Amino acid sequence: MSMQSAAWSSLHQISRATDGRNPFSRATIRRVLAFARPHRTRLVAFVLASIVAAVLAVATPVLAGQVVDAIVGHQSVSTVVWLAVLIAVVAVADAGFGLLTRWLSSTIGEGVILDLRRAVFDHVQKMPIAFFTRTRTGALVSRLNNDVIGAQAAFAGTLSGVVSNAVALILTVAVMAQKSWLVTVLALILLPVFLIPARRMGTRVADLRREAAAHNSAMSTQMTERFSAPGATLIKLFGRPDEESREFAVRARRVRDIGIRSSMLSFTFITALTLVSSLALALVYGVGGWLAIGGQLAAGDVVVLALLLTRLYAPITNLSNARVEIMSALVSFERVFEVLDLTPLIRQKPDARALPSGQVAVEFDDVRFSYPSAEKVSLASLEEVAVLDTRGGEEVLHGVSFRVQPGQTVALVGSSGAGKSTVAQLLSRLYDVDSGAVRIGGTDVRDATFASMRGTVGMVTQDGHLFHESIASNLRLARPEASDEELWDVLRRARLEEMVSSLPDGLETIVGERGYRLSGGERQRLTIARLLLAAPRVVILDEATAALDSTNEAAVQAALTEALEGRTAIVIAHRLSTIRAADQILVVEGGAIVERGTHAELLAAGGRYAELYTTQFSEAAATAADFAP
Ligand SMILES: Nc1ncnc2c1ncn2[C@@H]1O[C@H](COP(=O)(O)OP(=O)(O)O)[C@@H](O)[C@H]1O
Ligand SMILES: [Mg+2]
Repeated sequence: MSMQSAAWSSLHQISRATDGRNPFSRATIRRVLAFARPHRTRLVAFVLASIVAAVLAVATPVLAGQVVDAIVGHQSVSTVVWLAVLIAVVAVADAGFGLLTRWLSSTIGEGVILDLRRAVFDHVQKMPIAFFTRTRTGALVSRLNNDVIGAQAAFAGTLSGVVSNAVALILTVAVMAQKSWLVTVLALILLPVFLIPARRMGTRVADLRREAAAHNSAMSTQMTERFSAPGATLIKLFGRPDEESREFAVRARRVRDIGIRSSMLSFTFITALTLVSSLALALVYGVGGWLAIGGQLAAGDVVVLALLLTRLYAPITNLSNARVEIMSALVSFERVFEVLDLTPLIRQKPDARALPSGQVAVEFDDVRFSYPSAEKVSLASLEEVAVLDTRGGEEVLHGVSFRVQPGQTVALVGSSGAGKSTVAQLLSRLYDVDSGAVRIGGTDVRDATFASMRGTVGMVTQDGHLFHESIASNLRLARPEASDEELWDVLRRARLEEMVSSLPDGLETIVGERGYRLSGGERQRLTIARLLLAAPRVVILDEATAALDSTNEAAVQAALTEALEGRTAIVIAHRLSTIRAADQILVVEGGAIVERGTHAELLAAGGRYAELYTTQFSEAAATAADFAP
């Protein structure tokens, strides 16, 4: 399938997915209201202020009617002057209450969004690694940005829209009916003429907005993935930029079309509404004038009715716009709630305890593990697939048992794909075992607090990640309170002191996205420095020195040996020097431990290790020998 047809078929999926969903989901509304709960005092104040504002709005036409009656009845000038002064006072008060209601509605709306935004951020942080390995970052970020902002824009607007307009509408109708029920009924008869199409249009606009949100998210996914340094490199080397552009253009054009369509729909509606209210005005003057000439209505009342009519249709317009806004807000809320509803697979137990202090043993007890299926950890819309992969992963570890005594080092060797990194990820509880147990200091890692796990286990992997921040802050991630001297100390031990001090900004140098401005070896040494700073009691090195050449490795190895001193360590290594120093060597193949023992024992046994030794390590052995003590 070409990229373009792939883009088309996913467009089709999106439009299908948006069909037939009830935008007014009760559960969604209830949850939105739950977010509004902490702000209820302000909500009450807001409703009261809205009522006062609505009363003031009706007062002006009534006063104007009295002015007309005073003129027609040839009353004194002072009456008219006093009425005019009253109209001015009402105008000032009206402005004041307008400001007050707007302030209240926006503080409530923004407050709700603040809570929502924090809830989503906290929740996403709690998601297991499996979620992040499946989710497309762009889709997730768009969920956190566009949708939260969408909800924000609509919330404050609808709050003031719905409440104050509803109050204004009721009062206006009441006063009009009191003046002349006939004229009021005639004015209201025209309502269904535009209310029915308005309903249809609201649903249509909400569907369009939902589709646009999906496209926007797809575009930001494409951009975040393609415009990162590694992604851009890949596209330049192997990619098909024309197809990429075409795929992007298909979506961008659809967003344009949706934008035009929804704005035309809204505008047509407003034009129709204006027309209807002008027609109704003609009706009021006609019927009202006829009644007034017949003596059944005062001249002032005709003016009151005409003025109120203009205030009758405005709230109705706003209310039907509010309907559209509420629906698009609900769409945004739904998309945000969808993320909040994902239960993190890996949670801290309520009665979790800290790991024991001092040197700790590490133990794998008959551990079986398969990577969780997509269904369990992610959302189709964040992976941007139509249906989630429901296949459970194949079992990767089949009953792995071993024990690392406190302060000892165990080396894991084996072919690529054997399951070594999986062991490392289970030990740091990035995943949970399916059966069996992983224990640190006798405590099951599932019973330990997250904080004590972070404080106890440290891991360096082959592709150590650095944030787009200064060297100092990347290091201080391990220990925020570390002094500059301590930073220089670990840099020296990781053989980076010279390199960092030659940089113009020294410790404050920003290491680019994914540490791109550093060489692979330098980046790896920086992550090793971070480990040295953290000085965890349990150290995991997953091919931590793989990106170093043998000269550098020998140097860093010295620092690592020092870092492992007195700590419990699991070292996944491909160099003989590291392996030989281990207290125990485990040979992992096909998700099971096939041999265990010391270097000498395993060589003598002449099994898989001996085989690996002659094929994989012999080259390294030659270089390592130069540095051997
Ligand atoms: N995130 C993942 N999801 C599903 N399967 C995975 C994942 N990571 C690794 N695997 C699979 O688990 C097996 C063991 O992988 P790994 O532990 O990384 O091997 P090693 O580190 O020994 O090279 C491999 O078959 C690999 O395809
Ligand atoms: Mg690995």
